[in-house]
Amino acid sequence: MDTPFRTRTGVFTNKNVLKQQYEPEEILERGEEIEAYANALQDVVDGWEPENVFVYGKTGVGKTAVTRYMMDMLRIETDQRPDVDDVHVAEVNCHHHPSSYQAAIALVNELRADTEREAITTGLSTSDVLTALFEEIEAREGTVLVVLDEIDNLGDDDVLLYQLPRAKANGNIEHSQVGVVGISNDYTFRNDLSSKVQDTLCEREIKFPPYDANELRTILTDRAKKGLSEGVLDDSVIPKCAAIAAQDRGSARQAIDLLREAANVAVEDGRESVGEADVDAAENRVERGRVKDSIRDLTTHGRYTLLAVTNLAMTEQTPVRAKEAYGVYERVCAESGAEPLSQRSVHDHLIDLAMLGFLTQYDRNHGRSGGQYYEYELDVEPAIVTAVLGEEE
Ligand SMILES: Nc1ncnc2c1ncn2[C@@H]1O[C@H](COP(=O)(O)OP(=O)(O)O)[C@@H](O)[C@H]1O
Ligand SMILES: [Mg+2]
Repeated sequence: MDTPFRTRTGVFTNKNVLKQQYEPEEILERGEEIEAYANALQDVVDGWEPENVFVYGKTGVGKTAVTRYMMDMLRIETDQRPDVDDVHVAEVNCHHHPSSYQAAIALVNELRADTEREAITTGLSTSDVLTALFEEIEAREGTVLVVLDEIDNLGDDDVLLYQLPRAKANGNIEHSQVGVVGISNDYTFRNDLSSKVQDTLCEREIKFPPYDANELRTILTDRAKKGLSEGVLDDSVIPKCAAIAAQDRGSARQAIDLLREAANVAVEDGRESVGEADVDAAENRVERGRVKDSIRDLTTHGRYTLLAVTNLAMTEQTPVRAKEAYGVYERVCAESGAEPLSQRSVHDHLIDLAMLGFLTQYDRNHGRSGGQYYEYELDVEPAIVTAVLGEEE
């Protein structure tokens, strides 16, 4: 029977290695960061109390991939040392568990997953959950490393970040030891922490800078070798993907997404070779995917604010001052049947949107007489925002 599917082409040899969830066994171009990480974790290997580590850098620069690699290396190394206790790793992504309470539950359940003990659900008090977490750690009678990925999602809720590193000193655990690895997409999170939490959590800080075009080329060449047939890529494809991603945010994720989507465009077009024009087409898809992901993370009024500026951008009325954007925002709210927030709150949303990369903020300073104010301009394709917000509705 005829179905609408194509026959499988020979462009991909292993498409999975080009997908977002792929975990590379080999880390390229991160020698310095791996060395710094190894120094920070050396005490664990030597059997001392772990130091807490704070890893930071923009999204897509290898923080999660390198951390997982380091945890594997740590297990291998400690296995080779008969006199050193086992190391147990519990990892939680705070994007999916955005409070100390939720993250602690996730950690308990991850640690319980390889025991007979049942998973806990919500309904317990925070202190009960913390007690359960300490019990799990204590039961390991060894070193437990707690990895809190995308830790900035905890905001100013620092209960877990305060309690975990002090568990031993406070007598909550005795026969085990615990170390915290916190991973953040922004450095302001660190500075916003209370100084008591900062001092313990950030004993070791490791910075992941954006990748440059050369580094991205190495990473892409390796992925292409693992995932694509030989000879399907035009010579210009990898340099082009690397250049676009390097100029944008230096993200390996973005570079790999571009390569995969360029290959997809060619395949969907029935071709067995990928050229520069496919990268151009891919750019739009990838940008769309990125904007879509970030819009999903916005609050409802963050979306309304973004839509207001987008409407203004489409009628060429940007850059715009907060006050004028507010009028359009009110109309957007009215159309959605929502109660508008105060002008002050909408201004905060504008500042947030600028920080998230949706908007550019201009500081207008008109000397002593004119005073100072900000103007905002859309920094993403208006068509993408409206399309994505339209789909979301
Ligand atoms: N140095 C590297 N070598 C190989 N692949 C990498 C490297 N850095 C990042 N990647 C890949 O890029 C993507 C994004 O990396 P990730 O570690 O998730 O970034 P972050 O956690 O900093 O947002 C992942 O698919 C990862 O496999
Ligand atoms: Mg990550």
